Amino acid sequence: MGDKKVTAVVLAAGKGNRMNSSVAKQFLMLGGKPVVYYSLKAFEDSSVDEIILVTGRDQRDYCRDNIVKPYHISKVTQIIEGGKERYDSVYQALISICQTDYVLIHDGARPFITKEQIEKIIDEVMKYKACILGTPVKETIKVVDSNGFITATPARSKLWAAQTPQAFAYEAIKKAYTIFHQEQDSTEAAVTDDAMVYETYLGNTVKIIAGNYSNIKITTPEDLMAAEVLLNTITF
Ligand code: CTP
Ligand code: MG
Repeated sequence: MGDKKVTAVVLAAGKGNRMNSSVAKQFLMLGGKPVVYYSLKAFEDSSVDEIILVTGRDQRDYCRDNIVKPYHISKVTQIIEGGKERYDSVYQALISICQTDYVLIHDGARPFITKEQIEKIIDEVMKYKACILGTPVKETIKVVDSNGFITATPARSKLWAAQTPQAFAYEAIKKAYTIFHQEQDSTEAAVTDDAMVYETYLGNTVKIIAGNYSNIKITTPEDLMAAEVLLNTITF
């Protein structure tokens, strides 16, 4: 990708409460390999320059000895400890990067990201400074109050589901996360993705790029079953 450096951050520090399994979902077996292996391999085979893997304190050795080394994921330069929330893990990754031009932040629980989609998002981030993969929602989405009554039905044609990778100019996303991190005590916002931090704290727009419906996030047990099916239909 020319003279610009691109860093991928792969997030694997979550506990996976909604998955209800004793082993964190990013380490569950999918086709005989840990879930997080697949996205690491996609970034390894792409044009990104380095990969920062973020995981739990006690999972760093496991990642190094059972995934990074045996599967020759040579672009991993650091395996760092994440934080309590997803945004804490992202912040830790951003401050551990010495120098880069662009950063692609990816959920390690999304094994079906492809090399093609990674190259696409790299091209687009160089154009737009901030972009994410997403898909038009298929279902009608309802806004519901605390008593379970519908209060609004946003027009489906305007709704997209956010996926990862989410890609940004490095200095800009680091600045957004630094402001958010400093204000976090007072806000305690329900921040669930990186674009939200960028939009809120920099006031800049983010481009959404049409992704694939197969780039699912493994969140509940049904998703793992769907993933086994997808694994046999997608050619990497
Ligand atoms: N993640 C992380 N650090 C955290 C929380 C999440 O690195 N403190 C990662 C997860 O490992 C996952 C991705 O962020 O790859 C997306 O998060 P999510 O699907 O919410 O995973 P969990 O938080 O682990 O699951 P749950 O919300 O069901 O507890
Ligand atoms: Mg979570």
